[in-house]
Amino acid sequence: MAAIEDYKPGLAGVPAALSEISYVEGLQGTLEYRGIPIHELAQHSSFLESCFLLIWGHLPSLDELQAFEHEIRYHRRLKYRIRDMMKCFPESGHPMDALQACSAALGLFYSRRALDDPEYIRAAVVRLLAKIPTMVAAFQMMRKGNDPIQPRDDLDYAANFLYMMNEREPDPLAAKIFDVCLVLHAEHTINASTFSARVTASTLTDPYGVIASAVGTLAGPLHGGANEEVIEMLEEIGSVDRVEAYIEGRIKNKQKIMGFGHRVYKVKDPRAVILQGLAEKLFAEYGGDRYYDIALAVEQAVEKRLGAKGIYPNVDFYSGLVYRRLGIPSDLFTPVFAIARVGGWLAHWKAQLGENRIFRPTQIYSGQHAQPYISIEERTLSKVFPSLEATNGKKA
Ligand code: ACO
Repeated sequence: MAAIEDYKPGLAGVPAALSEISYVEGLQGTLEYRGIPIHELAQHSSFLESCFLLIWGHLPSLDELQAFEHEIRYHRRLKYRIRDMMKCFPESGHPMDALQACSAALGLFYSRRALDDPEYIRAAVVRLLAKIPTMVAAFQMMRKGNDPIQPRDDLDYAANFLYMMNEREPDPLAAKIFDVCLVLHAEHTINASTFSARVTASTLTDPYGVIASAVGTLAGPLHGGANEEVIEMLEEIGSVDRVEAYIEGRIKNKQKIMGFGHRVYKVKDPRAVILQGLAEKLFAEYGGDRYYDIALAVEQAVEKRLGAKGIYPNVDFYSGLVYRRLGIPSDLFTPVFAIARVGGWLAHWKAQLGENRIFRPTQIYSGQHAQPYISIEERTLSKVFPSLEATNGKKA
């Protein structure tokens, strides 16, 4: 039986997998995909090439990459029944909920499950990578009362998503920067949503259920949902001169500052460093964003007060500013994160299948034993409505 000293809330520091997929070191701020530093991939790779690397463990040859990109290009369309299902979603619903429902619904259409067949694995990888961006863009169009924009086979992955979002072909620099954002968000060891994906995968369910469970986990404000809240915070602050008081107030009230802190990194997240550079590039090319100055002041104010505790900007702090400049509304920031993270989740799904043992941790029971069963009448009268019991008593 496990002892109370073994219990680690949040499983902090407990190894849950043996993995070659990615590596994080929190004191230097290192992130590698299959041993390749993230800044190398951000500079030289593309999102789909990085996904191939994460999932199959090696950089693809030119033929392999072209075949992979080609397959994904031709699987971007959605079944009309999925579009019809989306039409029934309330416009006010959060796009992450829509994405979770649609990811799970894919399993209805591709119900054959052959988890030991490499062709099945590849087809599921292709479908999920191809269709998730189309789902996000389709929900965006439909909630505005418009028909979804059909994907364009002549555009690459990032450009096609921005096109489906805005019905305009993006500038090549904007598409390139968006592709780099996807590379940066593709994988990050055993975080909450990846753990969720691995737990679901370990039951040998279908890959659409695996991705749906991971999407649900990513949606929370302590995980992927933080990027949306960062922009809300910058809006609430409103101007640089209010930053100090705002940060001081939150720390005094023991409230978290969104976009800061990380379970592993005790320095500035390497992805935040690259994203900040991308934001500056975008502002130089397409004009500044007044929230950027507020963000810089927030970073300084937090570092001054919490830097000694190892609390620095994480990946979510600057990503929202980049997405805003690319014309992506703030409640789509987390779905965009999901589009990228599908690459990592699929890599972990495939790895989990290769070494599977169903996840079944233990618990430390801290409740009581051998309690009597109290009938509903007795509970209602004596516990819930004590005054009523008294009245009843008088009448009787
Ligand atoms: N603002 C203020 N204080 C913070 C912050 C923050 N953002 N993050 C951590 N702290 C403080 C805590 O109050 C706590 O202080 P204490 O020791 O005095 O009680 C200490 O640092 C440790 O914090 P925990 O929440 O216990 O750290 P944990 O590793 O469990 O959580 C997490 C990490 C969830 C990311 C946390 O830093 C947080 O809530 N950040 C804000 C939300 C956010 O930006 N999430 C995105 C993370 S990146 C991602 O998921 C993609």
